[in-house]
Amino acid sequence: MKFDEISEKVKDVPYITPENARYLYDLILREKLTNILELGIAHGTGTCYMAAALDELGIGKITSVDLLEAKESFQPSVEEQLAKTGLENFVQIVRMQTGYTWFLHDDINRLTTNDVCQEEYDLCIIDGPKNWAIDGFTFFLVDKLLKQNGLIIFDDYNWTYADASKTRDVTDGITHRNLSEAEINTPQVREIIDLLVKQHPNYSEILVYPDRSWAIARKKTSEGKKYTIEFNETYTSGFAKIKRKLQKLIK
Ligand SMILES: C[S@@+](CC[C@H](N)C(=O)[O-])C[C@H]1O[C@@H](n2cnc3c(N)ncnc32)[C@H](O)[C@@H]1O
Repeated sequence: MKFDEISEKVKDVPYITPENARYLYDLILREKLTNILELGIAHGTGTCYMAAALDELGIGKITSVDLLEAKESFQPSVEEQLAKTGLENFVQIVRMQTGYTWFLHDDINRLTTNDVCQEEYDLCIIDGPKNWAIDGFTFFLVDKLLKQNGLIIFDDYNWTYADASKTRDVTDGITHRNLSEAEINTPQVREIIDLLVKQHPNYSEILVYPDRSWAIARKKTSEGKKYTIEFNETYTSGFAKIKRKLQKLIK
């Protein structure tokens, strides 16, 4: 299904932005990423864009995982959105009692023979609780399941519990008042990128898009590391300022 057609059907439903949806759709087509793992579904808007890209490729499968307790929270549901687009055959929805880390346990268990885990996915998008403990661990688990040259997209690179506290006291089971000041104010996904992904020997290409709150890491072993921060110049003057600052530091 063409991008404009899927966009017309789902563009008014949160959460993926039109800009990120376009990027994801084009990435799947360009790199022929046919076996996809999506961690965090919500209404399944991102799921629909990815399924549309697989439909264009004529092949592929998305395994989309979320919490059992979140099923009723998102209306329209992912099932309704997929039915509306006719793309349901590309997607398997999995709902877990305690979350995607236990799904990853089951998948690693399923794919392990003689103490070796077979690599399965071309792309994994991590878009769940944005929490150091859960998503940091998730990164190591996903690494076991990701094929060489495969990609991990981390959403919510800039997100903090301080931002979320303006509208609620609990995020995905984590009570904000139980967190330290540092845990509240530090973007936890950014820490996962800086302290776990960048230092991991399997990841030599890391691309950060702060203005779309995304980081992308490629599973590729190499002597050197390539770490790129890319700003969209047209996005906001705030980011333009940061860009100027970074350029100064580099000089
Ligand atoms: C921002 S939404 C995902 C948005 C979606 N990927 C999109 O593109 O529209 C985050 C989702 O993560 C789910 N989630 C949060 N913690 C989770 C966990 N531990 N395991 C599985 N899903 C989780 C929430 O229920 C919610 O549906």
